[in-house]
Amino acid sequence: MLSASLRLDPARVVAPVSRRTFGSFVEHMGRCVYTGIYEPTHPTADADGFRQDVLALTRELGVTVVRYPGGNFVSGYRWEDGIGPVADRPVRRDLAWRSLESNEVGIDEFMRWAGKAGVEVMYALNLGTRGVQEALDVHEYLNQPDRTRLAELRRANGAAEPYGIRMFCLGNEMDGPWQLGHKTAGEYGRLAVETARALRAADPDVELVVCGSSGSSMPTFAAWEAEVLEHAYDEVDAISAHAYYEPVDGDVGSFLASAVDMDHVIDSVIATADSVGARRKSSKRLNISFDEWNVWYLRQFMADRDTGSTEWPFAPRVIEDCYTVTDAVVVGNLLVSLLRHSDRVTAACQAQLVNVIAPIRSEPGGPAWRQTIFHPFAITARLARGTVLRVELEAPAYQTDRYGEVPLLDAVATHDTGSGDVTLFLVNRHQTEAMALSVPLAGFGGGLRVAESWTVADDDPAATNTAEHPDRVVARPAGHAEVTGGVLHATLPALSWTAIRLEGGVARPADPAALA
Ligand code: AHR
Repeated sequence: MLSASLRLDPARVVAPVSRRTFGSFVEHMGRCVYTGIYEPTHPTADADGFRQDVLALTRELGVTVVRYPGGNFVSGYRWEDGIGPVADRPVRRDLAWRSLESNEVGIDEFMRWAGKAGVEVMYALNLGTRGVQEALDVHEYLNQPDRTRLAELRRANGAAEPYGIRMFCLGNEMDGPWQLGHKTAGEYGRLAVETARALRAADPDVELVVCGSSGSSMPTFAAWEAEVLEHAYDEVDAISAHAYYEPVDGDVGSFLASAVDMDHVIDSVIATADSVGARRKSSKRLNISFDEWNVWYLRQFMADRDTGSTEWPFAPRVIEDCYTVTDAVVVGNLLVSLLRHSDRVTAACQAQLVNVIAPIRSEPGGPAWRQTIFHPFAITARLARGTVLRVELEAPAYQTDRYGEVPLLDAVATHDTGSGDVTLFLVNRHQTEAMALSVPLAGFGGGLRVAESWTVADDDPAATNTAEHPDRVVARPAGHAEVTGGVLHATLPALSWTAIRLEGGVARPADPAALA
C-alpha cells in the first residue's frame, strides 16, 4: 500500500469558499433545454413545462449559479425571439450546432426555471453577430424596473419585478475561429470595453466577465488575454477560462492528472492579468470566471461531426457523453483545483447541466438519473464550507506523458470556523494501489472526529450509470477513516475521489467575510 501525509493549519487560509464555484451551464444546445430542463409533455412536467425530476436533481446537485443561454449558441442568438406569446415566436437556424431553435424557452421561461431551481443566473451576451445596442436592450429587459419600453414589455410578459441579474458574460469564446462573429483580440477588446462602459452607465452594479481564451491549447492563449485586457482591464471584474479534458490514446495516467493542467491554466491567466494590471499601475485585481469546465470526449464529437450531416433537427442528441468512474475522479479533482484557487477563481460553471456533457441525464418521456460525475460535484458543493485552507502534501509521485512527474495524491481542505468542521477532498491517482493517508490535526485544538466520509471508486473504473442501471456507480461511505491520537487515518482506494468531514472542532463566532 502507498502511504502519504498531509499538513493542515487553520491559519493558512486561501480565501472564503465562493458559493459561485458550484455553478453550471444551460445552453440551447442538443437536449439541454428541450427534453432536458423543459418537456411539457413529460409525466413530471409542472404547469410551466419544466421537468420536476430534473429540477429535483439540479437542487440535489447543489448548483448555485447557471450560465445561460450559451456557449457558441449565444453568438447568433436574438434574445427578443424568445419573449412574448409562444405561438408568435420564430423558428430560427442555430448555426453553432446546426439545429433548429423553436424559441419556446426564452428569458422569461428560463428565469422562472432558475427561480424554481434556486439558482442565480449568469447571463451571456451575444457579441458575435451583435453589439453594444443589443446588450443594452437585453439588460433593459432584464433589469430596468419600469417605465421604459423594454421594462414595460417584460412587465406585460408577466414579470412585474426586474430580474436583477448581476453577472454578464461579454460574449463567448470570441478567440475561436468556430465562433459566429469571431474577432481578433484587438477587435474584441474594443467591443468588450465599449459594451462594458455602456452597461455600467446603465447599471453600475453589474459584474462583467470578459472572454479569455477558449482553451490553453489555442495558439493565442495568454497573448489573447493580454491584448484584450489592455483594452478592458479597467471596465471588467473577471476574465473567463474554459477547459475540457479527456483521455487521449488511452493515456489514463495523464488524464488523471488533468487538474495539473487546470492549475496551470488558472496560474497563467492570473499572471497575465496581473502583469497587465502592473503595467497599468492599477491596484485592481481581476478574478477568474472558470465558466466552462468538464470532461468531454471531444475527439469523438469531432469525428461524429465530420460526417457532414445536412439535416436541421430540433433538439438533437449532441455530445451526450456517458461518464465513467475515472471521469468522476477527474471531475472531483478539477473541483479540488478550483477550490484551492478560491482567492482568484470566484465563479465556475461545469458544462453543462443536463444531457450535453452533463452530470444529469434524462430521456424524453422517460427517467432522469445521476451520471457518475454527479456525485463528487454534489458532495463537494454540500461540504465545502467556510474558508479554503492551503495543504502541504507528502506523497509519492508518478510519471505522466503530458505533465511530467505528478503527485499521486491531490487534496484541498475547507474549515468552517462557525461550526468547527474541517472537510478534506482527496484524490488517489494511482490506478491499482490504495493509499494510507495520515493527517495530524493538532492545530485544530483536539476533539475532531469523522462525521461523514464518501468515496467514489469501483473495481471497474469504466463503470457507468445508465437509464437501466442509474445507480450502478454511487458515492459510498469511505471504507476506513478515523481519528486516533489526534491524527486522521484514512485509506484511499486505488483511483478514487474521497471527501471526509470532521466535526467537533472549536467553533468560533461566524466571520461574515468567510461566509460570503
Ligand atoms: O459546452 C459546449 C461548447 O463548448 C460551448 O458551446 C462552447 O462555448 C465551448 O466550445
